[in-house]
Amino acid sequence: MTTRRAAIILAAGKSTRMNSARSKVLHPVGGRPMIDWVTALARGAGVEKIVCVVGEGNADVRTAAEAQGLEIAVQEPQQGTGHAVQCAKAALAGFEGQVVVLYADTPLISGPTLSRVFDAFETHAMSVLGFEADEPAAYGRLVTEGSDLHAIVEAKECSDEQLKITLCNSGVVAASAADLFSACDRVTNDNIKGEYYLTDIVEILRGDGKSATVVHASEAEVLGVNDRSDLASAEAAFQTVMREAAMKSGVSLKHPDTVFFSYDTVLENDVTIDANVVFGPGVTVRRGATIHAFSHLEGADVGEGANIGPYARLRPGTKLAENTKVGNFVETKKAVVGKGSKINHLSYVGDAELGEGVNVGAGTITCNYDGYNKHKTTIGDGAFVGSNSSLVAPVTIGAGAFLGSGGVVTKDVPEDALALARSNQVNKDGWGARFRAVQEKLKVKKT
Ligand code: UD1
Ligand code: CA
Repeated sequence: MTTRRAAIILAAGKSTRMNSARSKVLHPVGGRPMIDWVTALARGAGVEKIVCVVGEGNADVRTAAEAQGLEIAVQEPQQGTGHAVQCAKAALAGFEGQVVVLYADTPLISGPTLSRVFDAFETHAMSVLGFEADEPAAYGRLVTEGSDLHAIVEAKECSDEQLKITLCNSGVVAASAADLFSACDRVTNDNIKGEYYLTDIVEILRGDGKSATVVHASEAEVLGVNDRSDLASAEAAFQTVMREAAMKSGVSLKHPDTVFFSYDTVLENDVTIDANVVFGPGVTVRRGATIHAFSHLEGADVGEGANIGPYARLRPGTKLAENTKVGNFVETKKAVVGKGSKINHLSYVGDAELGEGVNVGAGTITCNYDGYNKHKTTIGDGAFVGSNSSLVAPVTIGAGAFLGSGGVVTKDVPEDALALARSNQVNKDGWGARFRAVQEKLKVKKT
């Protein structure tokens, strides 16, 4: 029988140092709010319940957490991490199993690391995720003996000798629900900060004859975000992990430091990515495709062997089949483009469906919006759209049709037809010479 698991996510902080109208834990790392990272981490570990502890001032967190199916426990006022966990007790009444405490502002812990925290229950009653700190500063210190954890001592309460310890508390702790809440009930605020420290439960449980241990993580993984500078550090750490993973899986990054991924970016092997490319959420790039420099993609599916950019912008709902081309200064949105079709230069293609082998000339614009509604443009297989065409949607261009360049196309075009939707050209023979002669005479008179 597998043990039941639950998580408590602490998010009752005031976010003062972010200087933001938004609660800290809603700020994104890799295109996903920090709290959603932590929720996904907990879910990945198979928890059946997640309780999110928020303050009264975190209405935005509450809304976001409820939308993700988390239970809410309100902690008001905030009297420390031990008090925060106690506030989650009612929501977990009757739950028998293991509980992990996570911080909503610590987004980068990996699934395998959290698994090791739970694995520690095979030998110990409680486990704490620790790390070797470059600068231990204000972190709680882990007092150990062999694999046993004896105590967590907050920096402010440390002796000079304890301050020398570099093994620090990440904040992640796990114990059975029974142990966790029975120990939290006994935590006091008899300390320098006058707070209820969750960290005191190590000594309390040891006093009950139970053992605790440390599971090790890298410092980058347990990085906590307090201000915008930490947020940038977390983003950088996330990007480093994604770039390495992409290259390992067979993606060429010509200048890795300038390519930015989202949490859910999917790149198949033999994709090549040039410098300065940004992936917003929801992008998949299939085998052998090339993304040239300065392109921005979001919510897009790029087919096998496709060629994108430089300077392309693929917006949500873009679905490009194999061997398509979307060139420089082209913007697509809700555009489904068939096999081998090309939109090579300076175009906007939105709310459109293009068949296979379509050629869209430079400067083509789908006029999809009338100020109230969006309308669709459909272009059949093998159609040729002349340069500088304005396609006033809703409009359908039949397969194999030709559009003369410069047309404002307001009516459907039948299959294989040629549509000319511009005024006829008038040539006036000799007009230029006559004009110049008149102007020259006038100039002579003036001087
Ligand atoms: C805590 C740990 C410390 C550890 C460090 C890692 C304690 C007593 N100390 O210290 O050992 O090295 O994290 O970053 O646990 N929170 C609440 N309610 C509260 C207080 C905090 O929800 O009343 C939440 C905060 O929003 C935050 C987390 O708990 O997400 C940590 O709180 P914080 O005050 O930053 O703890 P530290 O003093 O940094
Ligand atoms: Ca902190």
